[in-house]
Amino acid sequence: MLRQEKVNFARNAAADGMVLLKNENATLPIPLDKEIALFGITSYRCFRMGWGSGDMMAQPTVQIFQGLENAGYKLNSNVRKIAIKWAEAHDSEYRGVNRDWFKWVYRFNEFEISDEEIDEASKSSNVAIVTIGRCSGESDDLKNEEGFHKLHSQEVELIKKVSDAFEHTVLLLNVCGVMDLTSIEGLNIDSILDVSLCGEQFGNAVADIVSGRTCPSGRLSTTWAKKYEDYPTCEGVDTTVIPYNEGIYVGYRYFDTFGVEPRYPFGFGLSYTSFKMKAYDIDVDGTLVDFCVEVTNTGKVAGKEVVQCYVSCPDGKLEKAYQDLCTYAKTDCLEPGENEELILSFDLADMASYDEERAMFILEPGKYVVRYGNSSRNTKVAFVIEIEKEIICVKTCNRLSPADGTLNLISKKGYTPYTYSGEQKEIEKAQVFTIDCDSVKAEVCTRYEDAKPKLLVPKNDGKLYTLEDVYDGKADIEDVVAQFSDEELSCILNGVIYSGSDANANVGSMSIKVKGAAGEMWTSDKYKIPTNACADGPSGVRLAIFNTPESDDTDMAKEMVSYPSGTCLANSWDLDAAYRLGECVRNDLEVADIEGWLAPGVNIHRNPLNGRNFEYMSEDPLLAGNIGAYITFGVQYDENGDPTGRYTTVKHYACNNMEYERGISDSRVSERALREIYLKPFKIAVTESAPLAIMTAYNKINGQFAATNFDLLNGILRGEWGFDGMVMTDWNNAAVPKEHPVAGNDLIMPGCHRQKILDGLIDGTLPKADAQACAVRILRTVLKSNFVIKNRK
Ligand code: BGC
Repeated sequence: MLRQEKVNFARNAAADGMVLLKNENATLPIPLDKEIALFGITSYRCFRMGWGSGDMMAQPTVQIFQGLENAGYKLNSNVRKIAIKWAEAHDSEYRGVNRDWFKWVYRFNEFEISDEEIDEASKSSNVAIVTIGRCSGESDDLKNEEGFHKLHSQEVELIKKVSDAFEHTVLLLNVCGVMDLTSIEGLNIDSILDVSLCGEQFGNAVADIVSGRTCPSGRLSTTWAKKYEDYPTCEGVDTTVIPYNEGIYVGYRYFDTFGVEPRYPFGFGLSYTSFKMKAYDIDVDGTLVDFCVEVTNTGKVAGKEVVQCYVSCPDGKLEKAYQDLCTYAKTDCLEPGENEELILSFDLADMASYDEERAMFILEPGKYVVRYGNSSRNTKVAFVIEIEKEIICVKTCNRLSPADGTLNLISKKGYTPYTYSGEQKEIEKAQVFTIDCDSVKAEVCTRYEDAKPKLLVPKNDGKLYTLEDVYDGKADIEDVVAQFSDEELSCILNGVIYSGSDANANVGSMSIKVKGAAGEMWTSDKYKIPTNACADGPSGVRLAIFNTPESDDTDMAKEMVSYPSGTCLANSWDLDAAYRLGECVRNDLEVADIEGWLAPGVNIHRNPLNGRNFEYMSEDPLLAGNIGAYITFGVQYDENGDPTGRYTTVKHYACNNMEYERGISDSRVSERALREIYLKPFKIAVTESAPLAIMTAYNKINGQFAATNFDLLNGILRGEWGFDGMVMTDWNNAAVPKEHPVAGNDLIMPGCHRQKILDGLIDGTLPKADAQACAVRILRTVLKSNFVIKNRK
């Protein structure tokens, strides 16, 4: 694959992930012969990504002003001159031209453009564009303050002056997530486009939407509230114990159920064209539901539409949210008048609720209303499924419940949910399908605890078994591992650290094999174990830059492509794009000779201030899980479905929903919310796409570190979901090293705890059998990656 092919993909994916939030007077698209006055410092030096491991290091970035000029627009020369002069004078703060602002831009109305200059520009330019930038990153949450989640007074002043002076004003939001836009309500802004953080092709992608080369088809993967206080999660930030008192009511599940009007609802996004959709051919077989939706482009330009389906489950013993996303699909680009038939399907059992009292997923009796439309607040009823008696879908056991009294869960009692006029009538008139409840059999989850690892003993036949023998079918992995001394076990359970790391980024640059990659596994000539390197994720294959600009590492770092952020990709609701991203990343991994990718990140957008939201996909577990699964398909399997040997590491399992004191913070969550919301994207990714690796989160869940949580790892991930890959820690976590193997966390990264693991093995506090089980799983990953790669060549 040529780099240019991947760059083209990055550009299209970025444009498809931009969300048009407002467009009055058809201000967008702007014809190419109109002159644009371009304001706001991030128009000239953008935020390509947030910072930390989710950032890329060396890519040249197409700035917005460059993208608009590449497209053929003339920019107001005086505004451009003032801005460029300011930007060039501050490029040292921009970490070098074409990279990114390091952390925060503390000035907002930075290039001090006078009122006269704005007025002057409005005389010669037809339209103004103002870009507002926001960024966050690892260990750094936003605050609910001006200049963070809220607009800064200087930004408001700039937008006000410009929108007063110009007849037409477009606002571009180059932001890491949801913003509070209260302070610009009522200003004369025609159009608002959420361009998010979208990689090296940023400016070109913006120009594609602004010019109409691409018709906007992004839809919000997360609700934008009117103000921060509207979120049920607004309390409990800047604290190390975070009670998830909202339970299952996360994102739109809360706004709809409690009747709170958002600024922009989940799934919302405008287009330059219009569509009509019609559902038909409904088939309900057991709990499996299939139907078709015909989408017709009824407007004047070509475009894509996203069909979103939601199900409203009946209340019973358990409270239910007003609706949950159950399936969705995106059309191809339809010409005016063209139509497409989309086939939609889902298993109602996947929408079952978790009854903590009986540790079961159940479908309660009543009417299940299936809706479809192009946003969570613009749907109509498609049909109704009737269940006459309770269906038990899965029987398991409670594994992660918080201690009694930890939570004070909210209830919807007394609140009036969202509704729309005619909703009841639609429900009454809808076709009803009745499920034969007796035909549905419950799945019973196995108890992994019953299968404790057995001590592996060497064969003692005088032979040395190597990993190559396993590959050649002459031995089992267990035969290799059984030979390991305590010392060797302590080595394989830890990553290998490149001690001379002098990268100017201190995260993720510990690999010896590929300088600048995040880390790697133990290698052994004796057992013929090749080294296996991994790099971050998720916005591309990240190679840190070293302080030797001429070195090969830097050149390799530049070769890698910077793709759109997780949120931008999810906003596209496009699973083909997610697969394609995986394919492109696979190629980057091949170019850099790296086996593992530390991505995708599928944590839930629980609170808009979380510094890493941009890396993650959505507030909805289905959307996040599906995107994660399709990225994994693209990395791990080729077009014939054969394994490529490259792998993903789905992270951060689980509940890493805030960066404040992430190393020790404790997410206190009900078992129901865990199973229905926070674990679900991981479950979908694991069961659909079988990633070879999972990365545990830094934080604790209900008092126990995720990384040393037996129930989370051996209990749910392996026991219930059948995960047979490798689990690794996040980098330098705070959990007790020797507790990892027992819980089922195989690999400690980047690997500074050999001695502690060895001590545990010697004094018996770390059972050897558990350490061996981890070694087996690590070597299985090495076999499925290095050996497959070698064989494919
Ligand atoms: C991040 C991970 C990342 C790792 C390696 C950590 O700080 O939390 O997401 O994969 O560093 O760079």
